Amino acid sequence: MKNSTFTTSIISLLIVLSLPSPSLSASKPCNKNDEKVLFQIKKSLGNPYLLASWQTTLDCCKWYCLKCNKTTGRVIELTIFSGNISGQIPPEVGDLPYLQTLEFRKLTNLTGQIPSSITKLTQLTMLRLSWTNLSGPVPSFISQLTNLNFLDLSFNNLTGTIPPELAKLTKLNGLHLDRNKLTGVIPESFGTFTGSVPDLYLSHNQLTGTVPKSLGYLNFTVIDFSRNQLTGDLSMFFGPNKTIQIVDFSRNNFQFNLSDVKLPASLTSLDLNQNSIFGGLPAELTGLSLQYLNVSYNRLCGAIPQGGNLQDFDNTSYFHNRCLCGSPLAACT
Ligand SMILES: *[C@@H]1O[C@H](CO)[C@@H](O)[C@H](O)[C@H]1NC(C)=O
Ligand SMILES: *[C@@H]1O[C@H](CO)[C@@H](O)[C@H](O)[C@H]1NC(C)=O
Ligand SMILES: *[C@@H]1O[C@H](CO)[C@@H](O)[C@H](O)[C@H]1NC(C)=O
Ligand SMILES: *[C@@H]1O[C@H](CO)[C@@H](O)[C@H](O)[C@H]1NC(C)=O
Ligand SMILES: *[C@@H]1O[C@H](CO)[C@@H](O)[C@H](O)[C@H]1NC(C)=O
Ligand SMILES: *[C@@H]1O[C@H](CO)[C@@H](O)[C@H](O)[C@H]1NC(C)=O
Ligand SMILES: *[C@@H]1O[C@H](CO)[C@@H](O)[C@H](O)[C@H]1NC(C)=O
Ligand SMILES: *[C@@H]1O[C@H](CO)[C@@H](O)[C@H](O)[C@H]1NC(C)=O
Ligand SMILES: *[C@@H]1O[C@H](CO)[C@@H](O)[C@H](O)[C@H]1NC(C)=O
Ligand SMILES: *[C@@H]1O[C@H](CO)[C@@H](O)[C@H](O)[C@H]1NC(C)=O
Repeated sequence: MKNSTFTTSIISLLIVLSLPSPSLSASKPCNKNDEKVLFQIKKSLGNPYLLASWQTTLDCCKWYCLKCNKTTGRVIELTIFSGNISGQIPPEVGDLPYLQTLEFRKLTNLTGQIPSSITKLTQLTMLRLSWTNLSGPVPSFISQLTNLNFLDLSFNNLTGTIPPELAKLTKLNGLHLDRNKLTGVIPESFGTFTGSVPDLYLSHNQLTGTVPKSLGYLNFTVIDFSRNQLTGDLSMFFGPNKTIQIVDFSRNNFQFNLSDVKLPASLTSLDLNQNSIFGGLPAELTGLSLQYLNVSYNRLCGAIPQGGNLQDFDNTSYFHNRCLCGSPLAACT
């Protein structure tokens, strides 16, 4: 009796599951409003080949470059990557209200500015507009996207200064503004991120001025300021209580005495090459588990501390300084 009830249940369950009823099928069909917006986006982009699967004959949740929430049928990801697409980012992307990820990447012919309509995307956690030819500013209105945990605007043609308002993004884990044409200073507000402290990638721009001391109040993990025209001191990033792991300050105009800087045990990669850093190499370097070190092309002097893995690095990690000596460079005299 028990067994047959069980069998009956299984059979009816199988029948129910095999019915083409939308309410019981595994995923809800694509929302009609979202579909309409997607057709506008396709048209705005000039019906590119990359979006050939965007046809009424196919449920839009199954289209290329898209992901829906299976329960609601709302579009949650739009990732347009590496296609022959010309024109601008269609402002209609702002009309996909449940979007969590928006990505336009490796689209050489994508031009114009970042549209303000994206401020309507209040659920956005990831915004990646990278390897395109976007120009204009890094808009301060991005700071209205308070759920962002990843912002990548790298490899574009963006100009102007870095908006201080970005420090209001309390969930940000990564900020990539590298490889643009940004000018001006690193905002003082970047020492006031509350909540997560983002990995900061600002390299390959035209940033000037001193790095604000306020950045030393936070525990950063990764910082890349390389290839700018930044000046001044960096010692606030270091200290025995810091947790910084990877730093690249190379190819700037930093100028400070390295002798008394206390490098934290967390440090695994230190690139200071091509600056005007003076003094000597701190003895604690021998106690670190460094995977990468480059202090070349500075004004350092004195003996390279012997021990740890300091002698495992190539002599190019140390060469072109005022008077560094000892293995792997020539012996001190
Ligand atoms: C899908 O939507 C449902 C209902 O709003 C929500 O509970 C769920 O977390 C969403 N799933 C994803 C992956 O966003
Ligand atoms: C970009 O546009 C130019 C000129 O229309 C075209 O020749 C080229 O193939 C396009 N490249 C890509 C990757 O879209
Ligand atoms: C991109 O599209 C344009 C115009 O549709 C075409 O002339 C060009 O050859 C395409 N480029 C590539 C790399 O497919
Ligand atoms: C921007 O456009 C120029 C010229 O059309 C091209 O050489 C360059 O590769 C493009 N940049 C990117 C990041 O695609
Ligand atoms: C980059 O932007 C500048 C200034 O807006 C413009 O003059 C230049 O043509 C742009 N370069 C490319 C490759 O789009
Ligand atoms: C940084 O992290 C260390 C180790 O967790 C902690 O002792 C220190 O107080 C933190 N400093 C700041 C400014 O949060
Ligand atoms: C580092 O942390 C220790 C213990 O929490 C504290 O006594 C010391 O003052 C801190 N040093 C600095 C430079 O913040
Ligand atoms: C760097 O600091 C050390 C230790 O305080 C000091 O002995 C040295 O003279 C300083 N070097 C220069 C070039 O100022
Ligand atoms: C260190 O940097 C210099 C200057 O950029 C470079 O020539 C050298 O190859 C680098 N060494 C290593 C080990 O990366
Ligand atoms: C670095 O090492 C190479 C070979 O290992 C040697 O030829 C070169 O002279 C050295 N350069 C310096 C500055 O010590």
